[in-house]
Amino acid sequence: MFTSQGPSLRELAVQAFSSVEHGYDLLAPKFDRTPFRTPERMLDAVEETLAQREGSFGSGLDVCCGTGAGLAMLRRLCRDRVTGVDLSAGMLAEAARAHPEGVDLVRADALELPRTLGDTYDLAVSFGAFGHFLPAERPALFAGVHRALRPGGVFAFPVGAPVPPTSPAWWAVAGFDAAMRVRNAVWRPPFVMYYRTFPFGPVRADLTAAGFRVETAPLEHFGHRKDGSPHWRLVLARKDS
Ligand SMILES: C[S@@+](CC[C@H](N)C(=O)[O-])C[C@H]1O[C@@H](n2cnc3c(N)ncnc32)[C@H](O)[C@@H]1O
Repeated sequence: MFTSQGPSLRELAVQAFSSVEHGYDLLAPKFDRTPFRTPERMLDAVEETLAQREGSFGSGLDVCCGTGAGLAMLRRLCRDRVTGVDLSAGMLAEAARAHPEGVDLVRADALELPRTLGDTYDLAVSFGAFGHFLPAERPALFAGVHRALRPGGVFAFPVGAPVPPTSPAWWAVAGFDAAMRVRNAVWRPPFVMYYRTFPFGPVRADLTAAGFRVETAPLEHFGHRKDGSPHWRLVLARKDS
């Protein structure tokens, strides 16, 4: 969780009352010491699952790369170009510090991925950022990733099993989302960040509508629930060849 080297409560509050872009600019220098950075355990699980199922890749793209949590993984999995895209110049500056070589960093809105990226990527990943997109924005997000992939390329990202309302975690995320809805109703600029706007069923439908063939693989590293279903799955959305 939060450590003494991470952001103070005041710094987090200032971030939460900024826009997404400015909020992350402010948080960037301390972001890697927050629980918002995707943990290495998740990155390792995704990397191993991708390597086992797909082998290696040509070029890789990290959508909403932040300070670069997924970039090291992409550099190991990919033989050619690795690119990180993010809205926040502050987050990209940290990513550049962490990856001084071998990575292209592009400042762009993931809802309008630049056409200059081409359609050359074999693998696109995204970690920890889907809460920043409203359901109505998913078609634009997925269309941009689909365009950036070469035919046969894969868009991969982890999804957690739904949490039942009997769990304290359900109430924690419901409370967070409710607080953000109140904040966004009364305060400008909005800070879109909701935990419960990315359920797998509708996400799968939007991926399919964008032209992907969707399958999932269990992330075995995180074990299974009592009913036998995995706690975490890797979504593998493939652009038709
Ligand atoms: C919680 S951080 C995750 C960063 C990194 N992927 C990780 O797992 O540690 C979310 C990132 O999404 C970026 N982001 C949010 N909305 C975005 C958008 N519309 N376009 C591009 N990046 C965006 C933020 O700037 C931030 O760096």
